[in-house]
Amino acid sequence: MSAILTVKDLGISFGSNHVLKSVNFQLNEGEVLGVIGPNGAGKTVMLNVLTGILKPTKGTITFEGKEISKEGITDRCKGGIGRTFQVPRPFEKMTVFENIMVGGVFGGRMSEKQAKEEALRVAETIGLSDKLSLFAGKLGLLDRKRLEIGRALATQPKILLLDEVGGGLTESEVESIIQLVKTVKAQGVSVIWIEHIIRTMLEGTDRVLLLADGVDVVCGKPMEVMNSKEVSRVYMGGGDDEA
Ligand SMILES: Nc1ncnc2c1ncn2[C@@H]1O[C@H](COP(=O)(O)OP(=O)(O)O)[C@@H](O)[C@H]1O
Ligand SMILES: [Mg+2]
Repeated sequence: MSAILTVKDLGISFGSNHVLKSVNFQLNEGEVLGVIGPNGAGKTVMLNVLTGILKPTKGTITFEGKEISKEGITDRCKGGIGRTFQVPRPFEKMTVFENIMVGGVFGGRMSEKQAKEEALRVAETIGLSDKLSLFAGKLGLLDRKRLEIGRALATQPKILLLDEVGGGLTESEVESIIQLVKTVKAQGVSVIWIEHIIRTMLEGTDRVLLLADGVDVVCGKPMEVMNSKEVSRVYMGGGDDEA
């Protein structure tokens, strides 16, 4: 299987807080890789390093065979790395359609006409075609999460990075997000999906990586990782009953 993204010996520290010590993994072309780990494990930090918001202290990130660790946020987005934020922050006073358009324009590879067509296609994918003219501020949490994914998709990413899109949702809502991620995957996008709650990952991913103590503790088939002694060790005793 060929890797679209390879992360080697990635580390980042904030003063004496060594959040990521040495993280190693690869994302295969067309797969959904789940990343789990307890609160504070550095999942969001890792995503911020991958998108260029934070600078790593060490290590390399290779995307489609090219080292991108030194590239800025805009170049990485234009190059095909899209992401969502843990707390969705749409432009509340703009419509759903306009919010998706902003994503496409920021991605910067399209004319306005193309961006409009693409926005309509994305709205269809995320299931918000009938809410195009609603103000984003009026959307409920599930639709906000869908829109958050839509804004990232509008940049036409090759890799989509999802930060806890299942958080705060009911079980049936999470199910609809899982289906959405499957649709995105079927469109040929590779996905890294961070989630604090492990059960979501069982159905929604091809492989799961456990991030804890600043390293990639274990990575493999979702069920194997779920049943591994490493997951019991990391999630036990932390008072983490959501897992
Ligand atoms: N910009 C930052 N500056 C300093 N410390 C940070 C910064 N961002 C995150 N951290 C620290 O990194 C650690 C991991 O945070 P985070 O990645 O948000 O965890 P999670 O796995 O829950 O997403 C926490 O201890 C947090 O305080
Ligand atoms: Mg986080």
